[in-house]
Amino acid sequence: MEELRTVIITGANSGLGFESAKKIAANKEYRLILACRNLEKAKQAQEAIIKETGNSNVERLLLDTSSLKSVEDFVEEFKNHSDSLFGLINNAGISGMHQGKSVDNVEIVMATNYLGHWYLTNLLLEKYDIKKIFNISSDMHNPPQGLKWRDVKDIFYSDNSDRTAYPYSKLSAIYFTNELQERLDKEGRNTLVNSFNPGMMQTNFAGGPMPKSRVLFVKTMMPDRFGDLDKSSTALASLMLDDSLDVKAKYFDRSVNFIDSSPLSYEIDNQKELWNYTEGFIKEWKNK
Ligand SMILES: NC(=O)c1ccc[n+]([C@@H]2O[C@H](COP(=O)([O-])OP(=O)(O)OC[C@H]3O[C@@H](n4cnc5c(N)ncnc54)[C@H](OP(=O)(O)O)[C@@H]3O)[C@@H](O)[C@H]2O)c1
Repeated sequence: MEELRTVIITGANSGLGFESAKKIAANKEYRLILACRNLEKAKQAQEAIIKETGNSNVERLLLDTSSLKSVEDFVEEFKNHSDSLFGLINNAGISGMHQGKSVDNVEIVMATNYLGHWYLTNLLLEKYDIKKIFNISSDMHNPPQGLKWRDVKDIFYSDNSDRTAYPYSKLSAIYFTNELQERLDKEGRNTLVNSFNPGMMQTNFAGGPMPKSRVLFVKTMMPDRFGDLDKSSTALASLMLDDSLDVKAKYFDRSVNFIDSSPLSYEIDNQKELWNYTEGFIKEWKNK
């Protein structure tokens, strides 16, 4: 029998991660790893996916993306029982309403949405020839009020009092995508790295479904920002399942079509600065 294709999805117990996991698992050539911070919630998701798809190759593993130690533990555990890894969806995320520091003393939104995924991806790439990586971004990488790049240290250690942590974390997901692709290409590896914007969806993200009046407001005033959970998860799953996909370092927008991300997201100096700072940060953390 041919080997199953394993896909890891972070934050797969809810919203986009859960729906995409279900749609990928519907294809029984795939084995899903639900990488979640709450194993009880993950168990419910796992059971629901198995029941609905009939695919019993759905597993759950503990991962808290806001903790670098948790990322290391996850990778060790995964390596112990997996010889290959086909796909990775860096999806787990928290909204910009959160304030506080991670266990590693980094602003919590950046730590959860970006830093943990950076480390996770790089650790996994040390062992596996991953075929496809999707980093979940957002159109809020380019917020209506605009965004200016800052010293990375300021972004890592901000108190998020100006509520820019979320846009920076999602802009960082695009810089990470593009820089990682460039580096993997130089190494001659065949991984495809892309970012994906699901659009504004009704999930647990903002603490539960938006009131109808807000949905109507967004649909009317900001049609370009509105998304649909079913459509976006279908598109993300299709991109993972599509063997003919050969696109890289692109920003998919709520569909299997890519568009340009913001002009700021193509600033190569920022992209390099972010990578170098992150790499240095992790090295320092390891030496502690
Ligand atoms: N919803 C939107 O309007 C929207 C718009 C654009 C982009 N996005 C992006 O889409 C992605 C998925 O969000 P969603 O809308 O599906 O929201 P969601 O329903 O709240 O799902 C988020 C998932 O991330 C998990 N998570 C949060 N912090 C984590 C951590 N430290 N470690 C591991 N897992 C963690 C959550 O786990 P718990 O259940 O344990 O909290 C949950 O499984 C996010 O990256 C988000 O930024 C969402």
